[in-house]
Amino acid sequence: MQKIVVEGGVPLHGEVRVSGAKNAVLPILCAGLLADQPLLVRNVPNLQDVKTTIRVLAELGAGIHLDDAFNVDIDPRTVRSHVAPYELVKTMRASVLVLGPLLARHGAAEVSLPGGCAIGSRPVDQHIKGMQALGAEVVVEGGFIKARAKRLKGARVVFDMVSVGATENVLMAATLAEGRTVLENAAMEPEIVDLAECLSAMGARIEGAGTGRIVVEGVERLRGGEHSVVADRIEAGTFLVAAAMTGGRVTLTHARPDTMDAVLDKLRDAGAALECDGDRITLDMQGRRLRAVDITTAPHPAFPTDMQAQFMAMDCIAEGAGIINETIFENRFMHVQELQRLGADIRVEGHTAIVRGVERLSGAPVMATDLRASASLVLAGLVADGETTIDRIYHLDRGYENIEAKLSSLGARIRRL
Ligand code: UD1
Repeated sequence: MQKIVVEGGVPLHGEVRVSGAKNAVLPILCAGLLADQPLLVRNVPNLQDVKTTIRVLAELGAGIHLDDAFNVDIDPRTVRSHVAPYELVKTMRASVLVLGPLLARHGAAEVSLPGGCAIGSRPVDQHIKGMQALGAEVVVEGGFIKARAKRLKGARVVFDMVSVGATENVLMAATLAEGRTVLENAAMEPEIVDLAECLSAMGARIEGAGTGRIVVEGVERLRGGEHSVVADRIEAGTFLVAAAMTGGRVTLTHARPDTMDAVLDKLRDAGAALECDGDRITLDMQGRRLRAVDITTAPHPAFPTDMQAQFMAMDCIAEGAGIINETIFENRFMHVQELQRLGADIRVEGHTAIVRGVERLSGAPVMATDLRASASLVLAGLVADGETTIDRIYHLDRGYENIEAKLSSLGARIRRL
C-alpha cells in the first residue's frame, strides 16, 4: 500500500494552481445523463472519485471520452441500464447522484444504498423524500433504492435539513419534471451554483441557486453543452493552511476567493496576511506566530466541515487554545488520535474538540482515516520535527490532485513510497 513521507520544517513559498472542485465535478458528470446530446466538462481534476464516477456512467452505457487535458465528454445517447451496482457505489457515496438524472430521463433508477462511511451514518432519506415529492414511487429493496415514475411532476420540496447531495439530486431531477418545482431549505454551496450553471447551459430553467430557495421550471429535454468546473475551495483552503502553518508565503492561482469567505476570515483571525486579486489569493505569515481560532462547522456560507480537520492541525501548533465544534457529521474527529501521535494536545467532548497549541510536533507513523483527515496529517507532517509517514493515502487520492507534486513545487520535502 502506498504511503506518503513528509519531512517537516520547510516554510512553503511559491505559486500553485487550484484544480477544479471535486464536489462540483461529481454531480456535473452525473448531470450528463439528463441530456440527449453530449456534455463536455472542462477543468476536471484527475482524482480517484472522478474515475469512479466515470466508471459508474460507463457501466450505465454512457460513452465517455477523455482527452489529454482530462476534459471529459459524456455521451448519454447509448445509456441502456438504470442500475448503479453496489461494487461501485460502496466505494463512493456520491454515486447516489445518478438517482435523480436516471429517474428523470429514463423513468426508472436502481441505485445501491451507499452503506456506512467512516465519518458517520450519512442517510439518504432526503434524496428519497425529494423524489417521492416529485411523484416517484420509491422502495428500498435488496439493498437498492428502486425509483420509478412515468414523468416526474413539479412540486414544493421542503428538506428537513440542509443536504448538499439531496439538493443536487432533486435539482437535477426537477429540470425534466413537468411544471414548477420549488426546493425549500436548499443547500447554498458554491458547488450547487456551479451545477445549476451547467444545467442552465444545457437548457434547464433554474432560479435561486446559491440561496435557500431554488425554483425550477421543468423543460421537455436538455441538450448537451459545455461547462468548466468551478475552482476547488477546499483544496485552495488546504494549501493556504499549509502556507500559514509553515510560516510561508504562497500564491494560489485559478482560485475563487468569493466562495471562501468563512475560511479566509478565520485565516485572518489566525494572524495571516491575505490578499485577493481576481482569481489569485496570496497568504503571507510575515514572520508572525499563528493564533489558535475557534471554529463551528455548518452549511455554507458558514465554515465548511471539509476544512475542519485542516484547521484543527493548524490550532495544534498555534498560540493559545481553539474550540472546534463539528455540527455536520457525528464522527468526524478520527484525525484526533493520529494528531495526538504527533504530540498534539487535543481533548474531545462529544461534538467538540479543545485544541491547546504546542510549541512543536514530532514526526511519527500515522494512518489516514478519511479524505480531509488525511490532509490534516500531511499538514501536521509539514511542521513536525523529523519524518511523518502517512499510511492509507488512497483517501487523499480521492480528493487531492497531485498533492505531493504541488507541495513539492512549494518547497515541501514530501514523497510517495
Ligand atoms: C457533501 C460533500 C462533502 C461535505 C458535505 C457537507 C460531495 C460529493 N460531498 O456530502 O464533502 O462534507 O457535503 O458539506 O459534495 N443527511 C441526512 N439525510 C440525507 C442527506 C444527508 O440526514 O438524505 C445528513 C448527513 O448525514 C449529514 C448532513 O445531512 O449529517 C449533511 O450531509 P450532506 O450535505 O448531504 O453531505 P453530502 O452531500 O453527502
